[in-house]
Amino acid sequence: LYKGRTKAVPGEGPARAKVMIIGEAPGRQEDLSGEPFVGRAGKVLDDAIKAAGFLRGDVFVTNVVKCRPPRNRPPSRLEAETCKDAYLLSQVELISPRLVVLLGRTAVKALLAVDSLGQVRGSLVRKGGTDYLCTYHPAAILRNPRLRPTFDDDLLKLRRYL
Ligand code: URA
Repeated sequence: LYKGRTKAVPGEGPARAKVMIIGEAPGRQEDLSGEPFVGRAGKVLDDAIKAAGFLRGDVFVTNVVKCRPPRNRPPSRLEAETCKDAYLLSQVELISPRLVVLLGRTAVKALLAVDSLGQVRGSLVRKGGTDYLCTYHPAAILRNPRLRPTFDDDLLKLRRYL
């Protein structure tokens, strides 16, 4: 994926963040700026983070893959697994957050080996000593605004679990 990127998007936030948020892959805006979730989906995410009583600067935000896939297609299993082993698992280990929020199916698949988001959405899953809270990807909220109250509710659970 690095061959087609403008900038790599490794992630952003405090090294000691209590909360880590993992999306799918950088989009066009992210590819240009090198920062995660700065486009329209980022606004949805920021609003939900604020509603839960946090600031964007309190959390570490990243993606399963660090380079934008061509035409915004979802990363393949090989791409996701490669980036996970090369970067993502080390990021989780180094930051060692109290809670990891997984946004959408790509993140849930990569980290929990669960094939459908519906199986885990809204619930807290413990795996390998890390707690994961699973919810929709913010792009899904843009496509279907009726999902927004559930998305906001899921992120509100951050307060309860921290
Ligand atoms: N979608 C993602 O999954 N990540 C981003 O950084 C932006 C949009």
